[in-house]
Amino acid sequence: MPLTVVVGGFFGDEGKGKVVSYLGLTDKPSICVRTGSINAGHTVSYGGKSWKLRIIPSCFVNENTRLMIAPGALFKIDVFLREVEETNTRGRVWVDANSGIIEDRHVENERSNEYLMKTIGSTGQGVGAAMVDRVLRVLKTAKDFPELRGFITDVVREVNEELDRGGLVVVEGTQGTFLSLYHGTYPFVTSRDTTASGIISEVGVSPRLVSDVILVFKSYVTRVGAGELPGELSQDELVARGWVERGTVTGRPRRAAPFNLELARRAIMLNRPTQLAITKFDALFPGVRGKRRWVDLPVEARKWVEEVSEALKVPITLIGTGEDSMDMVDLRREVVGP
Ligand code: IMP
Ligand code: MG
Repeated sequence: MPLTVVVGGFFGDEGKGKVVSYLGLTDKPSICVRTGSINAGHTVSYGGKSWKLRIIPSCFVNENTRLMIAPGALFKIDVFLREVEETNTRGRVWVDANSGIIEDRHVENERSNEYLMKTIGSTGQGVGAAMVDRVLRVLKTAKDFPELRGFITDVVREVNEELDRGGLVVVEGTQGTFLSLYHGTYPFVTSRDTTASGIISEVGVSPRLVSDVILVFKSYVTRVGAGELPGELSQDELVARGWVERGTVTGRPRRAAPFNLELARRAIMLNRPTQLAITKFDALFPGVRGKRRWVDLPVEARKWVEEVSEALKVPITLIGTGEDSMDMVDLRREVVGP
């Protein structure tokens, strides 16, 4: 019953979309489930094309994988339908009847909330406001909208039956550990628990069925919106290091700091990963760019991977070396066993 959960290790934007799309192409899961909501933008670049996904699972690049939206996820219908067209996935994308639906009034409500927009730095996508309605039990869910009728299935049953058959299911988390409503830098957090346990709860699978938790770290730490960022560097320094990034959903500049072992250790405590992925490794070591084999990495880059794996006591098995989904050094067979 192989169930793989992909979790963000820092403050979101670690490159989960890239890792999940790689797993889609390489491990060929039967099902890939997206959790979270449309405040999270996952970027997938494959075969010369690029997509910014806010709700469609990043495994969509594998045409044989069935794509599902978790009952605990929330989305806006226009965003969903647009992405179905952009990814050409009609016919293999399914929505749980209980997935929450964000309406225009949720977006307006958030954008007029100064505390949320200015102090917290919300993305203003209506997600928190919709979560409030969900808790008050007045939020409409997918089954209430006729335009979603052709997409609805029982995701919980589909996922659990697939696992019982021995199939592979990949669950795609959103944001990062330290944006968790419970375990993050409250109140500078998002409106859900973004750790491994919260992610599988959104899907409706038992913790006993999880076989792998892949915790994704970027080779440096970024954060959008307010809240502490240990070791934060100045914008000039970010330009000098080539670490300038902008938010996928909001276009806001991302703040950045060097890789942080202490934060990583806490993320590991909260998620207990079986493996670690490091993305944007070419930002630290330009010589690794586009490389796909361990032996082709420069010696100092290999040393960094070995030292960090050793310090964190969890093997780094996936190393992202470029934008393309397949720009990855995959050590899973070598390090974790066949
Ligand atoms: P909200 O969840 O949109 O209200 O935003 C709350 C905080 O979480 C803000 O600091 C956002 O910048 C941050 N946040 C929400 N979603 C993401 C994401 O997908 N990546 C990075 N930061 C996010
Ligand atoms: Mg993102």
